[in-house]
Amino acid sequence: MQATLTALVAKAQADLAALKSRPEFEAAKARLVGPNGELTALMKQMGTVPKEERPAMGKLINETKGRLQELLDGALRQIEAGELQAQLGPSVDPTLPSPDAGPGTYHPLTLVREEMCRILRKVGFTVADGPEVETEFYCFDALNTPADHPARDAQDTFYFPETARFGNVSRKNPGEKYLLRTHTSSVQIRTMLKGAPPIRIVSPGRVYRRDTTDASHSANFHQLECLYVDRNVTVRDLKALLDYIFESLLGAGTKTRFRPHYFGYTEPSFEVDLSAKHLPKVNKEWIEIGGCGMVDPSVFETVGYDSTVWSGYAFGMGLERLAMTLYGIDDIRYFYQNDLRFLKQFA
Ligand code: DAH
Repeated sequence: MQATLTALVAKAQADLAALKSRPEFEAAKARLVGPNGELTALMKQMGTVPKEERPAMGKLINETKGRLQELLDGALRQIEAGELQAQLGPSVDPTLPSPDAGPGTYHPLTLVREEMCRILRKVGFTVADGPEVETEFYCFDALNTPADHPARDAQDTFYFPETARFGNVSRKNPGEKYLLRTHTSSVQIRTMLKGAPPIRIVSPGRVYRRDTTDASHSANFHQLECLYVDRNVTVRDLKALLDYIFESLLGAGTKTRFRPHYFGYTEPSFEVDLSAKHLPKVNKEWIEIGGCGMVDPSVFETVGYDSTVWSGYAFGMGLERLAMTLYGIDDIRYFYQNDLRFLKQFA
């Protein structure tokens, strides 16, 4: 009997190792431990064993049963692993070299953003941040852009349904709608409401417009905003700062010019043009790069600053336009396509 049990285990071990599928497994299990299986048959022979040998034989049968169960469990695990492998497809050889080896690089927009922040930090600006999901107050009202202003037209950005709530984005007025910010100017308001002047911040970030994509438009692009609030700030300070940052970024010979314009939150307001003919691929004399002006007293009143004491300038510019000028890129869509042939040029 003992020899038969040992042989049973040895045979089971060999049979189970060869199993490939669940039906095969179920059949083998029935054959071994099922009610009509081999082990059950042996147990039935216990009656023929002499009485004094029965306890030892009972123990042996139990051990055999345990061992068979272990072997069955192991076989099932192996079949399951095989099934998973079949789902995952052919196995990967991790020792093969990557088809596209090499370190990652910074995205050109990141490079320009970081360089601008570095240039501005050198003259005392600190980096401020604001949410991309904004409320009407920070994006428009506080920036002296009332509800009937053309910039508020529903076409201009993406509004959330009135029921939408963003617990981490504070609202100034109850019932205000959330929207994707159209410009980084909202960070001006958030910063001023946080503390007293003087203020000197730069805030880069992503903005959204309901624009149809083409070579120079994208519904989602990046801006860089600056705000400076102190006593006796003049347009001359603004012009000097813009000359400094663009010369630092694009090199000596870069010029800026102001064209009168209208923005609700600055008075006077200007559009800023850039001339950098020394750069490769810049063949236009003037490239429009952003808007700026002296902070409108009504904005100061909204945030609780005394406009007879404080003065300031603000400007905002498009980072894509700047990177396109710097690197000679002629289509804004390259920035978002993740084409390595494009991105690797900035390594
Ligand atoms: N927010 C404006 C835009 O997106 C740009 C701008 C204009 C920013 C004047 C300013 C500013 O800070 O003073 O077109």
